[in-house]
Amino acid sequence: MREESNMNLLFEPRSIAVVGASSKPGKIGFSVVRNLKQGGFKGKIYPINPQGGEILGEQVYGSVKDIPGDVDVASIIVPAKLAFDAVKECADKGVKHIQIITSGFSEVGEVELEHKIVDYAKSKGSRVLGPNIFGVFSAASDFNSTFSATEIARGHVAILTQSGALGIAMIGKTAVNNIGLSAIVSIGNKADIDEADCLEYVVKSDLTKVILMYVEGVKGGERFIEALKEATKVKPVVVLKSGRSKRGAEAAASHTGSLAGADEITDAVLKQCGALRAESLQEAFNWCKFLSNAPEPKGSRGVIVTNGGGIGVMATDACEKYGVELYDDQAVLKEVFAPATPEFGSLKNPIDITGGANSAAYDLALSAPAVSDKMDSTMALYCETATFDSENLAPMIRNTYKKHMETGTPVVYAIVGGSAVENAIVELNRENVPVYADPYDAISCMGALYRHHDFNKTRDDSISESKIDLGAIEKVIDKALADGRTFLLANEGQDVMRAAGIMIPGAEIAKSIEDAVKHAENIGYPVVMKVVSRDILHKSDAGGVALNIENKDEVLDAYEAIMRNCKAYKEDAVIDGIEVCEMVKKGTEIIIGARKDPQMGPIVMAGMGGIYVEVMKDVAFRSAALNKGEALKMISETRSYALLLGARGEDQKDIDVVVDTIIKTATIIRKVPRISDIEINPIVVYEKGNGVKAVDVRILITK
Ligand code: ACO
Repeated sequence: MREESNMNLLFEPRSIAVVGASSKPGKIGFSVVRNLKQGGFKGKIYPINPQGGEILGEQVYGSVKDIPGDVDVASIIVPAKLAFDAVKECADKGVKHIQIITSGFSEVGEVELEHKIVDYAKSKGSRVLGPNIFGVFSAASDFNSTFSATEIARGHVAILTQSGALGIAMIGKTAVNNIGLSAIVSIGNKADIDEADCLEYVVKSDLTKVILMYVEGVKGGERFIEALKEATKVKPVVVLKSGRSKRGAEAAASHTGSLAGADEITDAVLKQCGALRAESLQEAFNWCKFLSNAPEPKGSRGVIVTNGGGIGVMATDACEKYGVELYDDQAVLKEVFAPATPEFGSLKNPIDITGGANSAAYDLALSAPAVSDKMDSTMALYCETATFDSENLAPMIRNTYKKHMETGTPVVYAIVGGSAVENAIVELNRENVPVYADPYDAISCMGALYRHHDFNKTRDDSISESKIDLGAIEKVIDKALADGRTFLLANEGQDVMRAAGIMIPGAEIAKSIEDAVKHAENIGYPVVMKVVSRDILHKSDAGGVALNIENKDEVLDAYEAIMRNCKAYKEDAVIDGIEVCEMVKKGTEIIIGARKDPQMGPIVMAGMGGIYVEVMKDVAFRSAALNKGEALKMISETRSYALLLGARGEDQKDIDVVVDTIIKTATIIRKVPRISDIEINPIVVYEKGNGVKAVDVRILITK
């Protein structure tokens, strides 16, 4: 069960104790008190320092114990060796949230000290933020408990950052970019409070229109995913996730892991949650700023208006890259844009009003989509020309932007040129008009807006689960662990498949020649027959295998031949019987896998299977908390999906059963804690209605 928390008090406390407050400018203990005072915090500030006195007019207490009233938040700014005692005093006092600014814990190997602190705090009902953080800011309560050197500009973006230094830098950078913050919180080592907890507050905060998260590593993937899904339902969440390294994947024990460049998993899961993953800081800032001001597009029909063909082509490419659809009704485009376009211009989207266009022509052309009920978004481009009255560039943009805002139509501008153009960009950005120097930057913002709203229009966070016989699976695992194994044998893997209802090739052990015929007829020809004997390890060498048996006579012959061969091979071999197995027919070979990702939790994977899995790397990933629709989306992302649809005149394959098998595999990985990896490869898929056969199953287990 998730621990109940009141994150509101961390961001909007009524009082704060600053343990390690200092009267010496330049020290963190001084900066925090100064920022609290300068930021206009209305609650009580209790500086704590054994030396007593006053700091910036506030009475200093010798200890948290001496504070007369309740304390909602304490900020710990004493050296690491003093941190436990400081936290203990706060927890004993009943402080609700303890932010530990101090460094020198798990990030430098001092894991035990960190655990000791958190365990004590939790035992008293206190939550811990950090350690190794720069503090918390919340515009709603004018609460600046950070040691930021610059003032924090107020606005509508909330930042959750794992990196302290980058977070502090972002405070400065957001101010320069005129991106105001509603909140910023540094999460640091995440010994207790993590992104999921902080999302709880910023999602509810009315001041926050967009959330920006900087994430290095995720702890508790399932909770993170759940919180992220809840957040993206309410507002856009931009994520900067660093650490694209493949090292984690190299260490993984199965194909699922080896294919799972951890970053591909992150990417897939973030998309599945509806988060917008930015490539760079600049892209993240551009998106945040745009998304906090842009209206929701009424539909998908975008129009590009340009005075230059080249930049129009670039923008068209960018629209494809970022998923912005272009409106194509020629008759309407002609009617709307002809008044602003000379004969030699183009009335096909992109609309080219040509290099001769002046501000009046632009005004005319750009005002049209703002009021048209046929077009839903505008991408306005301008290349500097001598014919344009450049003093009117900024006013034209301001005016047409206003018209778009009045009708709730999103618009972005990309303007390219010399210093006059660059100055206009700076000037307009200060006013939050979305003007960029590159069409890709502009359209990347429009794409992010569409992705957020489109995702929410069709989102379905339900989780499909299938019935599995957990008891049977647990028994198989118990037995394997008792044998000292961390992997399952082939027949044990098949038992797990059976317990989950995943179709496997039929097989029965015959104790007599009559049995063999009966089993072969039950399974259906052709069949394979194999000797079962613990004394014969290499069955083929002993002549203990017969393939492609087509009828009863061949079963009789094969049975006798196998018995004869094996006796000749090893006279005293104990023969337990002869296994009669279904001879798996040819079909489309796919792979379905699942694993517990150290960061994202249970994940599933599916794609092209067979022996070339690793060469082709044609697989897709998802969090295992998925439904059938998402499972279908996952396989349809792979190139080999075309084979399932039926390539080169073949019939469509049993995609419904593939989807079911993904859900069954996802259910196993979610519901069986001791299974860490599952790989079914190949799983052969037959024509629609004929299902699949899981031919080879590998399962890793843990204690
Ligand atoms: N209760 C209250 N105050 C105390 C106590 C106590 N039990 N014991 C000592 N103090 C006082 C000290 O007397 C001192 O006050 P003074 O300035 O009046 O003398 C004050 O607490 C601080 O103690 P110092 O020993 O002077 O410690 P200092 O300020 O040098 O360092 C700090 C403390 C800042 C916590 C340091 O140990 C540290 O961890 N620095 C790194 C912080 C950091 O970067 N965090 C990550 C942020 S994110 C990022 O990377 C930007």
